[in-house]
Amino acid sequence: MKQDFYLQLVSSEHPISQIPSKKDLIPAFPGIFDILLECRAAYALRRLIKDLDAFDKIVPVSGFRTRQEQQDIWDQSLKDNGLAYTRQYVAVPGCSEHEMGLAIDLALKQEQIDFICPDFPQDGICGKFRSLAPNYGFILRYPKGKEAITKIAWEPWHFRYVGIPHAKWIAEHQLTLEEYLCGQSIQNLSKVSTF
Ligand code: DAL
Ligand code: ZN
Repeated sequence: MKQDFYLQLVSSEHPISQIPSKKDLIPAFPGIFDILLECRAAYALRRLIKDLDAFDKIVPVSGFRTRQEQQDIWDQSLKDNGLAYTRQYVAVPGCSEHEMGLAIDLALKQEQIDFICPDFPQDGICGKFRSLAPNYGFILRYPKGKEAITKIAWEPWHFRYVGIPHAKWIAEHQLTLEEYLCGQSIQNLSKVSTF
């Protein structure tokens, strides 16, 4: 994959323009063959889970989705949850980071797991994962308080691989990918950098 693939902005205003080929997709967790990620993202995720010794505590819920799979999730959620909820938590088909193979939804391992809004708490092992994620190239893509920018509700379970230097900068400056790429926070950034 070319370097710029990992920084592609995909959102309702920026439909996906490049999808990974099958050969670039591998299991997000070893031994779980139906949840795939782009290989660089998968290796980074595996390293992070291994370093946390969390393979028996955190589970992958959703990784790469085809456009048709995203459409099916959208349609099912529309039936089950209605339009308002679906627009908050499910990207419009053709506009999901899951279709790039760079997004992973994670849950704390437990019996019942909600597929659309999995439980990934702030504390404990999930909290540790969240704070270490940028060191491995992942950002929390839909943070609390940034809904007006991302157009998606707070999703504490959805992580997006962008690569290490970018992820660290984004996390350190509490940016969204939109702000990082579009320079919407240049003014704020210059304030932050004086500290
Ligand atoms: N839940 C995120 C927004 C997606 O469907 O891609
Ligand atoms: Zn997701």
